[in-house]
Amino acid sequence: MTDEPQPVSRTQETIDRFSRYVIGNYTRLPIVAVRGEGPYVWAADGKRYLDLFSGWAVTGVGHCHPRLVEAIREQAGRLIYMPNTWYTEPQGRLAQWIAETGFGGKSFFCNSGTEANEAAIKLARIHTPPGKYKIITFENSFHGRTFASVTATAQPRYHQGFQPLVPGFMYAPLNDMEAVEKLVDEETCAILVEPIQGEGGINLARAEWLKALRDLCDQRGMMLVFDEVQTGVGRCGTWWGYQTVDVVPDIMTMAKQLAGGTAIGAMCAREEVAASLVPGTHAATFGGNPLAAAAGCAVFEIIRDENLLENANQMGTYLRRQLLELKQETPLIAEVRGVGLMIGADLVQNGADLVAKCLDKGLHINCTHETVLRIMPPLNITREQLDEGLAILRDAMSEWQAQGN
Ligand SMILES: Cc1ncc(COP(=O)(O)O)c(C=O)c1O
Repeated sequence: MTDEPQPVSRTQETIDRFSRYVIGNYTRLPIVAVRGEGPYVWAADGKRYLDLFSGWAVTGVGHCHPRLVEAIREQAGRLIYMPNTWYTEPQGRLAQWIAETGFGGKSFFCNSGTEANEAAIKLARIHTPPGKYKIITFENSFHGRTFASVTATAQPRYHQGFQPLVPGFMYAPLNDMEAVEKLVDEETCAILVEPIQGEGGINLARAEWLKALRDLCDQRGMMLVFDEVQTGVGRCGTWWGYQTVDVVPDIMTMAKQLAGGTAIGAMCAREEVAASLVPGTHAATFGGNPLAAAAGCAVFEIIRDENLLENANQMGTYLRRQLLELKQETPLIAEVRGVGLMIGADLVQNGADLVAKCLDKGLHINCTHETVLRIMPPLNITREQLDEGLAILRDAMSEWQAQGN
């Protein structure tokens, strides 16, 4: 030991700066990320992490994919911003990508998932006859943090301290048709649902139930809105999550991996529905800006050119199979769920310590709803990279088990 003052590390310097200047509304890992490449991220202290979480499914084509970087560079040198009172080329091209990979329709652009849902809520209300305003959402859903979206999020812990919330939201259990039917009345304008609940613990909405919701919406003049913020843009091995269940919504929201990590959100609606958003009804200053939209177009091109939907299916099947094998080896995993590369392993107890152990060993995954390990690798993940992650998970799990868990 020496009495000499030690130089403050690059990591500590940044953490100190955050303590002083950044609001503490996140629980942060004591790691400063400085560089990413493919599924790997490097910290300021030089340590490398395998990122099989992709930042809540945002870096869907991996970190700093060369074609994404080039598209952003090229667009940054050409035009970064013009207001939506002008036309810009990338926004039009991105809307075309969304329509052609989805159900047609027209898009509105914003900057985040929560904003996309706000737009959908407003559109559902303005498109349906006056007096219809109620929206049904589902227990354990997650739709964002702005006021209408957080009200739509049927989890009391996100409401705590923020009441009164936005009027008109009612909640039902997922996959329960009887409960939905009981809530619907003449004032109901929409049903808003995630095809797979992400934050809620990788809970799959059943195809027959979604079909029944579709029928109910058609019969009662209501909008069926799918929140595809986490499931969209290839995550489920199809362009959109709804394509895995073959039920088409009237309105779909998206964000996360839509522009590979640059800020974006969007709402796509059937053309007739979209027509209700006339000038003056809704807007977003930065929505669909050339930089984010060019990044979005690059993401779609990369997924198409590199056959990433197929890769997501193949690697997702492989990962689920490996997790099921792991389940045979340990009593700690109760169930493995998921579609494509949106995968959850439900543990028999709180998994926070296990996730921390994995991180310590260089693997980044997430635990949601206390017990669900959430694994959402980039769509271009390889089998070798998954094996690397699985070896770390297996190792962390046996240590965890040996500690009496
Ligand atoms: C399904 C879903 N909807 C909406 C959101 C909110 O997105 P954002 O954080 O971009 O506002 C999230 C974020 O996790 C989400 O998973």
